[in-house]
Amino acid sequence: MFQISDLKCEFATNPLGIDTRQPRFSWLATHPERGQAPSAYQILVGLTPENLASDKGDLWDSGKTAVGVSPLVEYGGAPLSSRQRGYWKVRLWDASGQPSLYSDSAWFELALLERSDWHAEWIGFPAGRNGKALYFRNDFRLDKPIQSARAYASGLGWYELHLNGQKVGSRVLEPAQTEFSQRVLYSTYDITSYLQTGINAVGAIVGNGWYGAPKVLIQVEVTFTDGTQTQFVTGRHGSAAPWWAVCDGPIVENSVYDGEVYDARRELTGWDVVGGAVIPSPNFDVWAGANIVEPPGGKLVAQTLEPIEVIDTLRPKTKNQPKPGVYVFDTEQNLAGWAVLTVSGPRGTAVTLRFAESLYEDGTVNQENLRSAKATDIYILKGEGVEIWEPRFTYHGFRYVQVDGFPGEPTFDSIQVRVVRTAADIAGRFESANALVNQIDQAVFWTETSNLHGVPTDCPQRNERMGWLNDMAARSEELVHNFNVSRLLPKWLNDIADAQDPDTGAISDTAPFHWGSRPADPVSVCYLLIPWLLYQHYGDRRTLEDQYAGMKGWVDYLTSRAPDSIVEYSYYGDWAPPIAEGLAGSMGSSAVALRTPGTLISTAHYYYAAMLFVRIATVLGRDADAAEYQQLAERIYDSFNRHFWDEASGGYGSNNQASNVAALYMRLVPDERKTRVRANIIRDILDHDTHVTTGNLCSKYILEILTESGHGDLAYKLVTQTTYPSWGYMMEHGATTIWERWEQATGAGMNSHNHPMYASVGAWFYRALAGIQLQPDAVGFSRFAIRPIVPEELSSARATLKTVRGEVESAWEASGSGLSLNVRIPAGSQAEVRLPKSRGANQRLSEGGKPIQPTNGILSVQEDAQAFVVTVGSGAYRFTVETQ
Ligand code: BGC
Repeated sequence: MFQISDLKCEFATNPLGIDTRQPRFSWLATHPERGQAPSAYQILVGLTPENLASDKGDLWDSGKTAVGVSPLVEYGGAPLSSRQRGYWKVRLWDASGQPSLYSDSAWFELALLERSDWHAEWIGFPAGRNGKALYFRNDFRLDKPIQSARAYASGLGWYELHLNGQKVGSRVLEPAQTEFSQRVLYSTYDITSYLQTGINAVGAIVGNGWYGAPKVLIQVEVTFTDGTQTQFVTGRHGSAAPWWAVCDGPIVENSVYDGEVYDARRELTGWDVVGGAVIPSPNFDVWAGANIVEPPGGKLVAQTLEPIEVIDTLRPKTKNQPKPGVYVFDTEQNLAGWAVLTVSGPRGTAVTLRFAESLYEDGTVNQENLRSAKATDIYILKGEGVEIWEPRFTYHGFRYVQVDGFPGEPTFDSIQVRVVRTAADIAGRFESANALVNQIDQAVFWTETSNLHGVPTDCPQRNERMGWLNDMAARSEELVHNFNVSRLLPKWLNDIADAQDPDTGAISDTAPFHWGSRPADPVSVCYLLIPWLLYQHYGDRRTLEDQYAGMKGWVDYLTSRAPDSIVEYSYYGDWAPPIAEGLAGSMGSSAVALRTPGTLISTAHYYYAAMLFVRIATVLGRDADAAEYQQLAERIYDSFNRHFWDEASGGYGSNNQASNVAALYMRLVPDERKTRVRANIIRDILDHDTHVTTGNLCSKYILEILTESGHGDLAYKLVTQTTYPSWGYMMEHGATTIWERWEQATGAGMNSHNHPMYASVGAWFYRALAGIQLQPDAVGFSRFAIRPIVPEELSSARATLKTVRGEVESAWEASGSGLSLNVRIPAGSQAEVRLPKSRGANQRLSEGGKPIQPTNGILSVQEDAQAFVVTVGSGAYRFTVETQ
């Protein structure tokens, strides 16, 4: 019988404030027996917990329904309306037809589905107040006992909601950044416990964030125990509401890039408690009436991705005093977040915190590579006992914090470090017997940790922090192995769609679109690749539907720029290869690859996009589109081969690594040419003393290509290489996150030390070393392979991956005589396990200590000269390959 846990709705546990009328349900199921897949489910959705407890699905009773291909089940009951809550549970039937017990119950709650649900208006102060954060406040009276209460709120750029003297919830840097003219995210808060019968104070602190002059929108809705309701909103509406007041306060400067200046002498004591507006003070501007302001323009959409939160608090590891009165704390880990300052001293003392990734020789922080970002926070003491402060409306990418102006000597209690990111769950864990590989994997993880802030950013430290689409072509697959991005990435796809030119279909280089160009570089295939990954990993078909027209528009745009099916433009191509491979050959200038034709890379990604579109159209049953784009793909294939194949050298383009691996990775190479192309790649690697010459994209593709053609050992050598250029070189030179350039560089110019594009290697740890690879027809991890490579020099590797069906594990150990491999397969999945006969031909396979038999979850066993191939259903298996 199945055991059911982890009930999710829209990929979230008990989501408050979703805005879909067809929420999707999922859960994890375990079964004591192997080889189990639920055959049918029954979902009940009740209006109340009591109804549900008595098995009454008065909103929806799915009845016993056969399980479909996707692990997600879409709600199919009575129409849902704004603010509606549903309580749900599920039971499952196993292969023998036995139903499980019902799961524990879970719930979901809708937010505001209609524009007409909104009575609040945006308020602000014209043009803000010179870089200062604004404080908004009001009082409202509740005359009766409260049953429940919600606040629906947004504030641009970033805001904090306060009620009766407390910040509501733990969100920071809220809301996630979007194309504000198209879409603005709001959140739903359960504020029941913050309210009281009588007078209540509501307030918000609003900073600039990615927007500019602060504005805020709040709608408080209260239900009393007698069933009546009332609302209290920003703006004119609301019965007899007093004016909202606005004031600036202690946050006198706030900027994403530059940091925050907080003058504690200007603190607005009691501003968020009842009556706070009238407290007079000579030190701050008087409270004024807030104005109703222009809305930001975009439609209001519920924020369904995880909020940004403080994930961890670290103590710095070391402290130095490079100059009298100047202290530098070192966390020994590059990261994104900020510092908490604990200090006491005379009123008016200014303590300056400067953040950086590297140091000058004299031990002070080197901020040159942050370009124009000041990354500096200043706290001015009020002089009242111990003062504890952290910024609200900025974040930094750093390892070092330099403290100037501290009264006395700061200790390890004076500076603590907050790690801040979108609170997506960690999905994968990897480790191996090679410390360097583990170190690279950890650096990959920390690089992602530093670059998830409502948008997958390129870097967290300099004046950039953009969602670059070109980088995501390489990075996405790694990202889905490290984090559960089932909620973050659909949001980012909307950012891409919001910036798409509705007339031409051109998407932009960055989303939200602040940097680069529109049209984007043709390598921006992530617009199709991510929906595909979301479908394969999480079973998310809706995103395929939602982005279908946009994806098609982008492929069509490329077609309009591809005379003879060759895309005629390229900006970045295989960006930032080793410096000697770059156009200008110098660090400060272009990172465009010199020997990799831009149009080759563009056209290869055009083909990739067309082929992904064919798969997506096929899944969605749009057969005419599938056929049409299949033909388009064939034209690109032919033209690519006509233009870029060089018969004399046996390679593509300049016959360098990037040109050849791009062609192979995109499946653009006819079978009869593959041997020569592969041989050229290997020769080129060896000519470079086992090093890559590739940039941000082809450094991913080269590892995959080598591995799939049986050269996993060589891929492993590239990955564990420690001389320049390599990941190991970064590690040997003190990297704790992955660099933007293969070179070790500091100083002005393009050299972020925390850049996820080369973190793409992280996918290879899961896919090659642990061998967990989705099959092409997988839907929500339904079918995958466990096909580890076993490099000569490596004795073990292990990965776990939390999938939408449960945790997958692959753990192997090689010894002199053989190989052991432990795997775990979730219910509803099937895996093809390939065990290489890496210790010679005369080997025997056993499972659980017994000769292998096709029974008890084992569906088939095959063998060839190189390997055993076993197909298994769910459960845990212990395989051993030993010499007879
Ligand atoms: C970003 C890169 C991106 C590039 C494209 C840089 O500024 O940091 O990650 O690939 O621009 O031009």
